Amino acid sequence: MSEYLLEFRDIYYSYPMAEIPTLQGLSFRLPKHKKTALIGQNGCGKSTMFLIADGLCQPDRGIVTLDNLPLTFDRAALNRWRQRVGLVFQDPEQQLVAPTVAADISYGLCNQGLSDSAVAIKVTKTLADFNLENLAMSPLQHLSLGQKKRVSIAGVMALQPELLLLDEPTAYLDPVQTRNLLTELASIAELGTTLLIATHDLDFVYQWADWVLVMDEGRLIAEGETLRVFEQLQSMPDFELGMPTLWQMWSSLAEKMPQVPAPRSIEEFTAYLEKYISGK
Ligand SMILES: Nc1ncnc2c1ncn2[C@@H]1O[C@H](COP(=O)(O)OP(=O)(O)OP(=O)(O)O)[C@@H](O)[C@H]1O
Ligand SMILES: [Mg+2]
Repeated sequence: MSEYLLEFRDIYYSYPMAEIPTLQGLSFRLPKHKKTALIGQNGCGKSTMFLIADGLCQPDRGIVTLDNLPLTFDRAALNRWRQRVGLVFQDPEQQLVAPTVAADISYGLCNQGLSDSAVAIKVTKTLADFNLENLAMSPLQHLSLGQKKRVSIAGVMALQPELLLLDEPTAYLDPVQTRNLLTELASIAELGTTLLIATHDLDFVYQWADWVLVMDEGRLIAEGETLRVFEQLQSMPDFELGMPTLWQMWSSLAEKMPQVPAPRSIEEFTAYLEKYISGK
């Protein structure tokens, strides 16, 4: 058994009519049972990578594997692949298919061949987990963008995939819904689901991720444990992605502070400062 779940080996992909390939030799390995973040500038190919990882686009070249099993495009193999890999699209409008919230969440479950009663139990639990009970019978076109995003995340998480790919999951969510989502993600990560989140929110990445992948112009330019990757990015001034706020604050103080690991949360940072100020 490999310690990596998803692997891309030298993947090339061009959209029809595009002048240059969007993915240009993308290779990476995604560690199993970890929380991985995918970062990179607009247009570097993050969403395209997700579409390939879910078998929605076929690479022009290269191999994609899941637990060493290569991705193939016959219908039966694709169905099995998609039972294992769940994708939440960046744009919820692309994801939602049914007339109402409850119908949308039950759609994927019905496709898994579950009995009506098993589907009903899972839909009820998912509506409760995502605080969507009041919207259960609402037509999807009446929802706000943030509500649609929550429904699309709920629908995929209800399927309990082995690998969950979330493209900008917190976009459009308010702070309360973001916190709720993080709680849900933490509980499914604890159950062993491997998570990969594409995001521009570096503060979130810094605090949440165990592992980080960085893409630029269709390739991988850095991968590894979160702190190591931000250290690498700091030494690449030409690559303008920004840095997490906590990291920047810590970097400006690190020389004055005792040799302690960089804090990963506001609480840790405050504790260090208090210790330093009190001279202990
Ligand atoms: N359907 C499409 N047809 C043609 N080109 C496309 C299509 N979708 C994306 N592209 C192009 O592929 C490149 C990568 O797009 P992609 O959406 O994968 O980037 P991204 O890293 O997800 O960006 P963002 O951070 O803005 O979400 C861009 O140059 C984009 O214009
Ligand atoms: Mg994208």
